[in-house]
Amino acid sequence: MKDMPKIELHLHLEGAAPPDFVRALAAEKGMDLTGVFAPDGCYAFTDFLHFLQVYEAATATLASPGDYHRLTRAVLKERAADGVIYLEAFLSPDFCGGGDLAAWREYLAAIEEAAAIERRETGIEMRGIITPVRHFGPDQARRTAACAQETAGDFITGFGMGGDENAGKPADFAYAFDMAREAGLRLTTHAGEFAGPESVRASLRDLRVERIGHGVRAIEDPALVAELADEGITLEVCPGSNIALGLYSDWAAHPINALREAGVRVTVSTDDPPFFRTSLTREYEALSEAFRWDEDVLRSFNITAANAAFCDQATREALLKKLEPSP
Ligand code: ADE
Ligand code: ZN
Repeated sequence: MKDMPKIELHLHLEGAAPPDFVRALAAEKGMDLTGVFAPDGCYAFTDFLHFLQVYEAATATLASPGDYHRLTRAVLKERAADGVIYLEAFLSPDFCGGGDLAAWREYLAAIEEAAAIERRETGIEMRGIITPVRHFGPDQARRTAACAQETAGDFITGFGMGGDENAGKPADFAYAFDMAREAGLRLTTHAGEFAGPESVRASLRDLRVERIGHGVRAIEDPALVAELADEGITLEVCPGSNIALGLYSDWAAHPINALREAGVRVTVSTDDPPFFRTSLTREYEALSEAFRWDEDVLRSFNITAANAAFCDQATREALLKKLEPSP
């Protein structure tokens, strides 16, 4: 499973920071991270809102472009070793300079340089999706969209909102999404994770996204499932994340199989892998055990992901070629 080439469309850069990396950074800076780690050394949290708090506490150790350069290299190296050949990472100007454009440019240059090094060393290809954090509010989202407009290009190819899905309504963020769309960015948003089908409907209607992060709670509304299938909306499904955050009791109870059988375009990602003690290999192993999926089914997720990737056509074709079964 590790050797199988895999594509990951939904991963938060800070959320992929290995615990040892964050601990070392905190020690260098003399920062106190009490409450961030469990006794076994992994990240500790009790529910979704606490997870967001711990995420932000761990992220506070990352305070310079140099820190993000090291983080990006560590994350890409780990993902490449797990068989990931293409990764779209959520990048947040809010955490990289507080939404200031000049600062964001410096952070982004450091991230991009690290990605170029790892591409040379491991072959992994990366693109960035700029991420407003929903609970920071619509004004800050507009500042983030301005950063997105100024840095959209070959590397920054998407715009997608994360954070607390119950903070405000999608329509509050429509202006920021319009700014990103006008800059030529492709659009996604977290929805249908900690709010129900109505959140997915409102995101499609008001933000006009082509992909949905998670989207799994659409399963509670059969008409919406049919609409997702008909409209060709791609879901960035992160089953291990949903289970770790208490949305579903176990792998067999996860709706990914039902969504796939209903004809929805489904992909698999890890979200924040060390937080949820997972990797794409682990997701595939657990899913294929729960649903008796063979390698062709797993490959179909990657083909769907390649087709929905926010990348140029030449990159897409190269990815599809790498996904062909070896003779
Ligand atoms: N930020 C990092 N992980 C997230 C998740 N699973 N949902 C919303 N925002 C996030
Ligand atoms: Zn996410």
